[in-house]
Amino acid sequence: MSMDVLTLSNVEASYGPVKAVRGISLRVPEGRIVTILGSNGAGKSTILRAVSGTLEAAAGKVMLKDEDITNHDPADIVRRGLVHVPEGREIFPLLSVHDNLLMGSYTRRDRDQVARDLEMIHTYFPILRARARQPAGLLSGGQQQMLAISRALMARPDLILMDEPSLGLSPRLTREIFEIIVRINRERGTTILVVEQNAAMALNAADFGYVLENGRIVMEDSCAVLREKDDIKEFYLGLKDEGVRGARRWKKTKTWR
Ligand SMILES: Nc1ncnc2c1ncn2[C@@H]1O[C@H](COP(=O)(O)OP(=O)(O)OP(=O)(O)O)[C@@H](O)[C@H]1O
Ligand SMILES: [Mg+2]
Repeated sequence: MSMDVLTLSNVEASYGPVKAVRGISLRVPEGRIVTILGSNGAGKSTILRAVSGTLEAAAGKVMLKDEDITNHDPADIVRRGLVHVPEGREIFPLLSVHDNLLMGSYTRRDRDQVARDLEMIHTYFPILRARARQPAGLLSGGQQQMLAISRALMARPDLILMDEPSLGLSPRLTREIFEIIVRINRERGTTILVVEQNAAMALNAADFGYVLENGRIVMEDSCAVLREKDDIKEFYLGLKDEGVRGARRWKKTKTWR
């Protein structure tokens, strides 16, 4: 059994009077990809914010390996090896692509290794080398997502939290981004917790999944098992009884992400 990099026990978080998530308990084992699925407003981003210290956890406990990081300062959490790629990317649009990447490594002292990591990132995303000197704000949405993920990698994290990496991307780019996410996990051993509305992509890439509805976890299992569950097929994969061909036809008339 591998150890857990991240453990949440009964975490709750609110926005003013609005309780967004309740009683969240989950585990992310070392070296794995874990996904949280759920529709708009289910509380996915809220969980990630409560973990990275960008939103106060009103109750419960967040453990990073054997350290209690509940409500620690976000910068301290980054130094301990946990990086959050937030929804909407939040790159620095006026800084160059290169400088955005360096911002990711600001807590590090190992300059030689930083240079090697930059090289490695350029092999994952060659476009970021080609555009290194341009303001990051001029990148396309997909390229900005690549930059946001790369900036997270520049911190050499043990664990990356990713919030909807597919947001606003074409199906082809979404596939590419997920391929890279899997490569990062396999080649660097980085543990990843990814939140997604694109359930098909997430269930393919991840090992284990949690399903969130109205701020509560309603289902958890290996992705291989989740993919076969009728509820998941119907509500998250858009597959009805009529089978895959029928679902494809149906998808064309609905806007599924
Ligand atoms: N800044 C905020 N102020 C007030 N309420 C918020 C805020 N952010 C989120 N909420 C509410 O908290 C609940 C959970 O939101 P959250 O953003 O975590 O959902 P989500 O699962 O990430 O949804 P999406 O898929 O749309 O990103 C929702 O009811 C949402 O309206
Ligand atoms: Mg969200």
